[in-house]
Amino acid sequence: MSITKAVIPAAGWGTRLLPVTKTQPKEMLPVGGKPLIQFAVEEAAEAGITDITIIISPNRQAIIDYFAPAPDLAAVLTRKNELGLLNDLARLEDLANLTYIIQEEPLGLGHAVALAHATIGDEPFAVILPDDLIDHHESGLRQMLPIFIEYRTSVIAVETVDAQATRKYGIIRPERVSERIYKVDELVEKPSPEAAPSTLGIVGRYLITPAIFEALARTTPDSRGEIQLTDALTVLLTQQDIYALELQGTRYDTGEPLGWLEAQVAYGLKHPEAGERFRHRLRRLI
Ligand code: G1P
Repeated sequence: MSITKAVIPAAGWGTRLLPVTKTQPKEMLPVGGKPLIQFAVEEAAEAGITDITIIISPNRQAIIDYFAPAPDLAAVLTRKNELGLLNDLARLEDLANLTYIIQEEPLGLGHAVALAHATIGDEPFAVILPDDLIDHHESGLRQMLPIFIEYRTSVIAVETVDAQATRKYGIIRPERVSERIYKVDELVEKPSPEAAPSTLGIVGRYLITPAIFEALARTTPDSRGEIQLTDALTVLLTQQDIYALELQGTRYDTGEPLGWLEAQVAYGLKHPEAGERFRHRLRRLI
C-alpha cells in the first residue's frame, strides 16, 4: 500500500498576509531562499510521490510558471555560464508530474481536495498544506508513512497547540496508542478553547484513503459556506479508523506574518554559508 500521489491545496487568498498576497499566492513567499510551494513539492517527491495535483485559484499563474521551463532565462544563464543555477532550474521541472486544477471559488479546503478526485482516482494519497513548514531532518510525510503502512488507514499529523489557539486549528479527541500515536475519537474544526476536546491541533499533513471523496460529497458546508476537510474526516471516521501522529520537529505557521518571519529567521540561521554571519547581525539588532 504505497502512496504515489499527493494534493497540494494552494488556492487560499492569503488574507492574513495582505497586501503582499494581493498579486502573489502566499505559497510563493520565500523562506530561506525558496518558495513555500517548492518545500511542499520537494517533501512529496522525497517521500516517493510521483504525481502531484496542485489546486490554485483563478488568475494566479505564478505557481504554474515556477515549475515550467523558462527558455529565455535559461538562454541568459547559458550565456553567462551559470551552470549551477541552470541545474537548479532544470531540477524544478523534474521534481514530479504536476497537474493544476483551478478552484474557481474559495469554497474551503475540503472542496479543494474534492476537486482532485479525478487525478487521484481510487488510491490513498497525501495532502500537504504548504504554509505549514515542518523543520526536522525527517519530513512530516516521512514520519507518517510507517504509521499508514502499519494501520492501513488514514493518518493525520498533529501537535500540541496553545490552549488559547484552538480556534485556529482542527482539534482532535485523542486516545493514546503509544508515545506519539493516537487513535482519533472525534475531530472539531476550529473550536473555542471551552469547546475543544483537547489541545492536539491538526498540522497540514494528511495521508488519506480514497473513501474521503465520498465523505466529502456527503459533507455539509459550514456556516461560511465552506466545505472543511476536518468535517469530511468526521464523516470518514464513521466508516474507518483514523490515526494521528504527533510530529517531531518545529512547525512554522507561515500563513501569518509572525510565523513567516520566524521561519525566515530560523532557516536563515541554518544557512550553510551565511548562517553564522546572520547570527552575528541578528545579535547586533537585538
Ligand atoms: C486548515 C485546516 C485545519 C488545520 C490547519 C493546519 O486550516 O482546516 O483543520 O488545523 O489547516 O494548518 P487553515 O489553516 O486553512 O485555516
